[in-house]
Order: sequence, then C-alpha cells, then structure tokens
Amino acid sequence: MTIRLISLIFALVVLFAPGCGGDSEPELDLSPIAAEGREIANNNGCSACHGKNGQGSVGPAWTGLAGSDVELEDGTIVVADDDFLRRSITDPSAEIADGYTIVMPENPLTDDEVELVLAYIKELP
Ligand code: HEC
Repeated sequence: MTIRLISLIFALVVLFAPGCGGDSEPELDLSPIAAEGREIANNNGCSACHGKNGQGSVGPAWTGLAGSDVELEDGTIVVADDDFLRRSITDPSAEIADGYTIVMPENPLTDDEVELVLAYIKELP
C-alpha cells in the first residue's frame, strides 16, 4: 500500500515536473504568412544554421535582423532591408556578412517561398 502510494506520488511528480527548459519552443506570435515562412525555413534546412526560432547558430540570427545594420566581409555596412534579405536568400554569395567562416549554401526556395521566409524574418523581434 505505502509502496503503491509512493510510486503514485513519484509518477505524478515526474509527469508534472516542469520540463527542463532546453528545447521547449517559445510561443512566437506570428501572422499566418510568417508562420508559413517559419515552416519553410525549418523544412529546408535553414534552421540548422539560423536556429529553429531564428535565434542563430553557425549562421547569423534572424531575430532583430530586419532593418538592422549588417557589416559585410569587406567592412561595408549595409541595412538589412527587404532587398538585402531577399538577395541573401536567393544569391547567398552576393554579400557575405562579416565574421562567418562557413558559407551559406544555395537553396531551392521559389520566389513565393522566399517572400514567406522574409515575412517570418521580419516578424522576429
Ligand atoms: C550551412 C549553413 C546555412 C544554411 C543551411 C543556411 N544559411 Fe543563411 N547564412 C549562413 C551564413 C554563415 C550566413 C552569413 C554569411 C553570409 O552572409 O553568407 C548566412 C546569411 C543569411 C542571411 C543574411 C543574414 C545576415 O545577417 O546578413 C539570410 C537572410 C539567410 N542566411 C537566410 C537563409 C535561408 C532562408 C536559408 C534556407 C533556405 C538559409 N539561410 C540557409 C549559413 C546558412
């Protein structure tokens, strides 16, 4: 009886213990098109380098990227406007952000998909 009770309590503790943070996904408040863009980014390997929530890893973070200043390899500073972001996706080697040793690969995104990913990037605070 006591053993049963103890294991019941144990089971409850395990069940309801808060997850240890880690990869629980923060709730992003995304518009439908941005959410679609996020799906596309996660399904096309972009998230491997830019993070599942755009937080960045071996590639630059997307959070806060839109409209910010980006320093390129040659020291020029450009504003990450729509054109820059679009070009970064469709022609990854056109402008290289400073400080990255790995090269962003070409990708098969269609123009429509690029626009959706762009919408996603722009909604990341
Ligand atoms: C193998 C890793 C890798 C993958 C996969 C990858 N990227 Fe990148 N990406 C990078 C790196 C590194 C840079 C910075 C160097 C540069 O500008 O090329 C970058 C730069 C960018 C930039 C410009 C960011 C800035 O701060 O200048 C955008 C936008 C971007 N990537 C979008 C994408 C999208 C969309 C995909 C998926 C279709 C993708 N990337 C896949 C590594 C990657």
